[in-house]
Amino acid sequence: MVLATSEERHLLDDLLEGKIIRRFVDDQWICVTKHEEVLYSFKDKCPHAGASFFKGSCEQGKVVCPLHRFGFDLKTGRGHGLYLESYPILMHENQYLIGFEKNFFGF
Ligand code: FES
Repeated sequence: MVLATSEERHLLDDLLEGKIIRRFVDDQWICVTKHEEVLYSFKDKCPHAGASFFKGSCEQGKVVCPLHRFGFDLKTGRGHGLYLESYPILMHENQYLIGFEKNFFGF
């Protein structure tokens, strides 16, 4: 799936460290942030109680949910015994692509 086309890639190239932006991909909101020059993407739905991360923050390599302030590690997704639903980002033909896991039925 395309996260940012070649015309939009500047949004991710120029993303400030720790800022969270949202992209609508495959009928869902995806958050993207940058930490130590690496882009991370994850579902805009906190695994604790479903809050949006969009108004959250990134602190010391963790995304912090704005509702109950739980922090989730950007590299592992882990936090408070829960896991972020995170996705790999790949640059291909001048576009940023995002990888979604397929379910049992291949969707
Ligand atoms: S909903 Fe995110 S920490 Fe509770």
